[in-house]
Amino acid sequence: MAEIKIVSVRKIKIGSKVQCDIYSKDGNLILKKGNIMTDHVVSRLESLGVTRVLVEAGTVELEEEKPEPSKYDDGLPTDNIDKYSENFLFKKEFEQGKETLLNKDVDGSHDVALAIAGKLLTSGSVKKELEELKYGTEGVVTHSLNTAVLAGAIAIDNGFPKEAVEELVVGGMLHDIGKLYIDPAVLNKKGRLNDKEYEIMKTHAEEGYKKLCDNKGVSQHIRLMAFQHHENNDGSGYPKHLKGDQILFQSRIIHVVDVYEAMTAKRCYKDSILPGDVMEFVMGRYATMFDTHVMDMFLKTIPAYKKGDLIKLSDGTRCQVLESNPKNSLRPLVVLLDSMKVVDLYTDRSFLSKTVTELISKEGDVVKHDR
Ligand SMILES: [Fe+2]
Repeated sequence: MAEIKIVSVRKIKIGSKVQCDIYSKDGNLILKKGNIMTDHVVSRLESLGVTRVLVEAGTVELEEEKPEPSKYDDGLPTDNIDKYSENFLFKKEFEQGKETLLNKDVDGSHDVALAIAGKLLTSGSVKKELEELKYGTEGVVTHSLNTAVLAGAIAIDNGFPKEAVEELVVGGMLHDIGKLYIDPAVLNKKGRLNDKEYEIMKTHAEEGYKKLCDNKGVSQHIRLMAFQHHENNDGSGYPKHLKGDQILFQSRIIHVVDVYEAMTAKRCYKDSILPGDVMEFVMGRYATMFDTHVMDMFLKTIPAYKKGDLIKLSDGTRCQVLESNPKNSLRPLVVLLDSMKVVDLYTDRSFLSKTVTELISKEGDVVKHDR
């Protein structure tokens, strides 16, 4: 009888053909024999929480152990930020914000965040601004700026008053300020943090809160967004293991945006994970990690797939996205590339059992179709 081994998903050599069906540790078939192991497959398995699989010995090629990706919130170097194009709406603010954050200048960062909130509030479509955000960068600074814009977009899209929008944008900007006080050897470490390092990293929430308490110009809500943005809805988060309503509502919003932004970003140790896969990860933690009301608001605002994206469904059908769906971002309106038929994946009964399994390419020219 063939010897069965458990191997790390990340040890299976990229590009190798899988010579046997692969099962998760609890026995579910997750990859059929004959598939090619790609970075996307690895990212997708990990986004679904699968890190180890059962294989017959000798049926897959294995690589030397690579550093595994750390928990989503660690290893954020501060020294790299993209150059933004002249027409990027927040170009000036992002450049100013880089300076103020790296200088640990709370007042300056507060002012920059208010300027971002002002532009968000006066721009016609917040969704268009989201499409201009860059996720291919690294660092606390980019992460904080993106989180500020995403949190503000959710607030605007869900009808929050001006003051609440401003507070969330500032909270997004300052939520990780405690990381700037973490030992750079831990903060910038490539690869997985050990337990001791992870405990150090976790102190950033309380450290940030304390620093913000030193500043009279910062509201208590903003301080709490720094303190509580790693608390989970079911009490499994940190630092205080708060649950549900014990966590400030604004902190719950920053929590989901923080995870989404960190997972879609390209880090020093991993490629970015596709937004659709991140969305699957986030939805898989509906009510455990994240507040359900906040999740509904998040899914209304953040598109998993954008107009022009080419995607593949679980039955192999190739489609192009025509419109994202405001009610469920994983079920866009698409055109089937074989028949040019337009299908609403949210309402079409014959497609309800099919899921999007692959993003073939991003933002192609939209094909001609009959609606
Ligand atoms: Fe954090």
